[in-house]
Amino acid sequence: MRPLLKRLRGVVAALLLGLGLAAASLPASLPPAAAQAPASPSAANEQMLFNYLQGSVQGRVTIPDQKSALLIQPRGRDFQHFWRTTLKWIGGVAIGGMLAVLVLFYLIRGKVRVEAGLSGRTIERFNGLERFAHWLTASTFIILGITGLNISFGRELLLPLMGPEAFAAWSQWGKIAHNYLSFPFTLGVLLMLVIWIKDNIPNGDDVKWFAAGGGLIGHGHPPARKFNGGQKVIFWLVVLGGGAIAVTGFIMMFPFQFVTTMEGMQLATQLHGVIALLMIAIILAHIYIGSVGMEGAFAAMGSGKVDLNWAKEHHSLWVEEVMSGGRGASVPRGASKAGAD
Ligand code: HEM
Repeated sequence: MRPLLKRLRGVVAALLLGLGLAAASLPASLPPAAAQAPASPSAANEQMLFNYLQGSVQGRVTIPDQKSALLIQPRGRDFQHFWRTTLKWIGGVAIGGMLAVLVLFYLIRGKVRVEAGLSGRTIERFNGLERFAHWLTASTFIILGITGLNISFGRELLLPLMGPEAFAAWSQWGKIAHNYLSFPFTLGVLLMLVIWIKDNIPNGDDVKWFAAGGGLIGHGHPPARKFNGGQKVIFWLVVLGGGAIAVTGFIMMFPFQFVTTMEGMQLATQLHGVIALLMIAIILAHIYIGSVGMEGAFAAMGSGKVDLNWAKEHHSLWVEEVMSGGRGASVPRGASKAGAD
């Protein structure tokens, strides 16, 4: 009995001390309305307290971390509103809109076929290192995307379906995966940058490619080198967008290490969310066209070899380059200069 009484006394003392400290620190930077405010927050109803704390509430602390003296920061409310509402709208419209566009595109255009038919002869498109870099980036991006979407939308979409316990366990594992997979994802983006930058410098061919609708609008086959204009856009979005996601992600993972202000941390969080959601939407289009949307495309990243007729229709200048032995490329067995027509 005695230890219980002793503990109760301790709790009451701590509560009184806490209330006293709060009451002492509040008036320091309160707006004039504070004059009519109740003496202690515990006596105020919630709405009064909310009105009462519109300005920032800054106290004094003696520990080295001076940030902890800021009890209420008005910009935190804008941040919370952005996080709970605006970001969800951005993600919903971008991802939902992209899915709708892809369904429409499929219904109108159908699968993009190899018009000359498959030749049965192949040409090497991507070597082992290129495919490793691609799948390292792709697999980690997909898991980062799913676990990131869980952070943004999980509470609304999954919690009611899974129940609190399963959702808590899944979210905990998801967060661990999200943190650790950021490292191989960053490595993948850097590898792709180093390997493919030489093939992704924009040039006049890209302008012509876009002007001709990229072969997706209509049935033309505008000439292209290893990467066409659309792929170059994807490449730079992955490198710059992926780079920005990585940088802002590391800023959040090591709080106040690279960025020292609260505003900086909030900005990094907002940028991370917006760029990631937009990239997910864009990558959905890439995944569609690289798999079910275009006949013969997946093999490029699957086996590394594509059908010669596919290559001629989508990357005619690159095929010419490879056939003429340009840039050290080897002519594949079975593929002749005359092609597969
Ligand atoms: C299941 C998922 C994915 C599939 C099926 C897929 C498929 C492909 C294919 C077939 C290519 C080669 C296209 C060609 O030969 O011209 C390619 C290229 C590429 N992929 Fe993916 N990909 C996937 C996910 C991703 C992700 C998540 C990223 C980045 C976050 C990514 C970034 C790239 C880049 C930068 C290229 C080179 C430029 C381009 O072709 O657009 N891929 N992908």
